[in-house]
Amino acid sequence: MNNPQLNKNGELQHLLSTEGLPAPILRNILDRAASFVNVAEGREIKKVPLLHGKSVFNIFFENSTRTRTTFEIAAKRLSADVVNLNIGSSSASKGETLLDTVDNLCAMHADMFVVRHSQSGAAHLIARHVAPEIHVINAGDGRHAHPTQALLDMFTIRHYKREFHNLRVAIVGDILHSRVARSQIHALTTLGVPEVRVIAPQTLLPANVEKLGVQVYHDMLHGLRDVDVVMMLRLQNERMQGAALPSAQEYFKYYGLTQEKLALAKDDAIVMHPGPMNRGVEIDSSVADGSHSVILPQVTFGIAVRMAVMSTLAGAQ
Ligand code: CP
Repeated sequence: MNNPQLNKNGELQHLLSTEGLPAPILRNILDRAASFVNVAEGREIKKVPLLHGKSVFNIFFENSTRTRTTFEIAAKRLSADVVNLNIGSSSASKGETLLDTVDNLCAMHADMFVVRHSQSGAAHLIARHVAPEIHVINAGDGRHAHPTQALLDMFTIRHYKREFHNLRVAIVGDILHSRVARSQIHALTTLGVPEVRVIAPQTLLPANVEKLGVQVYHDMLHGLRDVDVVMMLRLQNERMQGAALPSAQEYFKYYGLTQEKLALAKDDAIVMHPGPMNRGVEIDSSVADGSHSVILPQVTFGIAVRMAVMSTLAGAQ
């Protein structure tokens, strides 16, 4: 099937989703990211010239702390010129369409767009619209996909667990509204994780989620048993219509990660969260800040992974 992310040579032209990306492309990005971690740790000047002379435009129509900032750092470490469009004070607020905004930024010689939008498909729309030499990275679109989050999560798992083929991974929480969960599931199954569990109340699971190759659990006490990796998700209140849940307190009682529940996982299990966290809703502070947590290393690895993605795209012919 034609993949809109790949060019005619099978190289990554845009990064829109982890769905349908071949394992060698995912592995190449992780390997390249490992070399960029070494750049950050081993050099006094943490820059490489791979995007020298290129202009990267961050266009975020939704709020972000981690993704926007780490993309900016990553682009600067690759020596790109970076423009952060402030959507709140841009002409989007006067009714300019998304594609008119993009056309105007292209007229300023943009080479790469990093796009976050509340509408699923926004990054695909831009990728189809721009000239072939321009690259588009999806930094999160609605409930659909957040591929660089999933890639940095894969990098983090590989860093701590070395291999994918022997892991049991649990993704816990609001799967229904989570672009992160969807992208994680595609990446984990493509990279060969044999057992991916999703743990959530029925109201927070997409229909037919098992068709994605996951095992469904509604009870954390069963679902967390003997897992190597626990990936917590934020409750996406802003994407919920009506009451999907009785209350935050009740949610925490059944689906919040506490020390007691974490004790069901393997002794050396790691705890992940894409952020932002709702402490006391999906995760207890003692776990978020505890010895199993790799939540802040995830953020740091995000810089190297985003450097890897941008430099891979820039190298496509
Ligand atoms: N994980 C993530 O996407 O965080 P931000 O919304 O802060 O970018």
